[in-house]
Amino acid sequence: MDSHRLLKIGLFGFGCVGQGLYDILSREETLPFKVERICVKDPKKLRPLPAENFTYDWQQVLQDESLDLLVEAISDAEEAFAIVAEALRQGKKVVTANKKLVAFHLPELLALQEEFGGTLLYEAAVAGGIPIIRTVEEYFSNEPLERVHGILNGSSNYILSQIFLLQKGYAEALKEAQDKGFAELDPWLDVAGADSRHKLCILTAHAFGKTIAPEDVAFFGIDYLNDQDVEYAKQDGSVIKMVASAHLTADGELVPVVLPSLVDASDDLFVVEQEFNGVVVQGAYSGPQLFKGRGAGGHPTGAAVLSDIVSISKGYSYGYKKLHKTTNAPALALDFELEVYLRSTEPELVVALGLTNLQNVQRENESFSVLGTVTLGNLIKAQDEIRKAGAYIMALSSDFVNAGVKKSKERVHAS
Ligand code: HSE
Repeated sequence: MDSHRLLKIGLFGFGCVGQGLYDILSREETLPFKVERICVKDPKKLRPLPAENFTYDWQQVLQDESLDLLVEAISDAEEAFAIVAEALRQGKKVVTANKKLVAFHLPELLALQEEFGGTLLYEAAVAGGIPIIRTVEEYFSNEPLERVHGILNGSSNYILSQIFLLQKGYAEALKEAQDKGFAELDPWLDVAGADSRHKLCILTAHAFGKTIAPEDVAFFGIDYLNDQDVEYAKQDGSVIKMVASAHLTADGELVPVVLPSLVDASDDLFVVEQEFNGVVVQGAYSGPQLFKGRGAGGHPTGAAVLSDIVSISKGYSYGYKKLHKTTNAPALALDFELEVYLRSTEPELVVALGLTNLQNVQRENESFSVLGTVTLGNLIKAQDEIRKAGAYIMALSSDFVNAGVKKSKERVHAS
């Protein structure tokens, strides 16, 4: 691309991210980018720009050879995949903010780029305005990483902050997260941990050189959190944060999981409040570093898209250095143990989870809560049953790594 002329952008979607980008480009007049065409789905929907700014046929935009690059910012992941895949088949430069699309289709998206020479960047897909993908991909390209974990969903973190800091109710806090434009069209994705899972899959590919299918990642959320759980956390001054984490065990196996977790003041993630995200990247030599910033909202996410637009227009593409370097991508550590709190009305879940070391069993009316130890494999297997039962599960600390090591040491000692 000629860097001296105005580059024309074809934009798909004009929701929170699309409008955020459009607004930034309208304010930053010196930037050499212009949104030339905006493609949306529903002609009847009221929009903040006059109707003549929109087109409704995405094929027209895909076929428009005058466009220099495409930005995909629609919420339907499968429709987004159809658009992005077609654009990559045409060898185009594409920026997306759609985490579900990337998480579910990364191997195909890599193959399309390889075959047809197009480029896909997706910084906005993980942790909103925090430049975490390029940090992990470029800065940490040669240092082995031990763990990447953090708060990857702004809406659920906003809700938890409202509950813990302002004593608000869950429903009121969720409504606010929706009104502020943080939540997904289907907020279940936010509160149930699915959105965090998608982001964790993407981070894992860059951090550990392994593309994991979202189906292989156990995810649990705050959708069934109640006052009893909040009180339990407060007893020792902790709060609850939704933690997405991937780490390598001493045997080189991977532990990816999304689990609400008790977090106390000594934890790096304790200070991450409201719609902010926080990602701790733990290098084998550099140690842990916290990256904190706004994880949701039109402007922070639009700014991440803008950064990709600049990079892609200069010819940047992800090298996927760890993916290419890794001959044997790590297997999942299905035997890895985590210490959890479970509250439910269904005692069968204790069996389904294979919970051991049961402690502190409490009963209240129809429900019970219990502390115990569970393996990653059982969490993966029992996750649908737990969701169906409306049960709430959380880790006793966000430090899954050392909790696991401590447990296995105890086991070795005992045998
Ligand atoms: N709904 C997402 C969140 C938006 O709350 O984090 C940013 O991906």
